[in-house]
Amino acid sequence: MDFKTLLMNRRSIRDFQDREVPLTVVQEILQDTCLAPTASNGQPCRFIIIRDRGVMKRLSDESRRNLLADLAGNPDAPMKMYEAALRDDAFNVFYNAPCLIYITGPQEVPSLEVDSALTAAYLMFSAASRGLGTCWIGLGAHIRGHEILRETGVPEGCRIVAPIILGYPTAIPPASERHTPDIVRVI
Ligand SMILES: Cc1cc2nc3c(=O)[nH]c(=O)nc-3n(C[C@H](O)[C@H](O)[C@H](O)COP(=O)(O)O)c2cc1C
Repeated sequence: MDFKTLLMNRRSIRDFQDREVPLTVVQEILQDTCLAPTASNGQPCRFIIIRDRGVMKRLSDESRRNLLADLAGNPDAPMKMYEAALRDDAFNVFYNAPCLIYITGPQEVPSLEVDSALTAAYLMFSAASRGLGTCWIGLGAHIRGHEILRETGVPEGCRIVAPIILGYPTAIPPASERHTPDIVRVI
């Protein structure tokens, strides 16, 4: 697959075939993420691979619950636009994907968000090059309960930055509308 095709094929996928992703393939994809740049080559990211759909559903419910609680305290938050979906008990924020990867890292690392985002991009492109689909699920990052954090294995002092779902897509949608680059000045 040439680079342009790879760029076009990396779409957010929210509908998956009923097919597991072999753990070896997930491990190969995570190996590729090690090539991502990180500040001072700090490589702070740690990964949690979740393939148990029951656990994923409980994580979805926990995240929905916490987002709705936050919304109750701040009714004008941008999250308001997702309120109806979040109130729907049948809504799985992870779209019933066969695999979820949490990119986490030590919360004291100042560049954690940027490092994790670059790592996530490598993950998404590596997956796309293998015919797999991904989607960053910001709605699935709000895990706070001690018990569920312990069960999920989020290391002490680490926080979840990027929840990425992974699976074989039913279809690759065409690229959504993009505006041209906003080049402010050429000097
Ligand atoms: C930080 C971040 C958070 C996102 N959170 C969600 C989410 O919670 N649910 C979802 O369906 N898509 C989510 N997305 C996917 C975006 O909606 C998607 O990338 C955007 O619409 C562009 O579409 P494309 O990825 O197919 O190019 C998120 C993307 C990013 C980068």
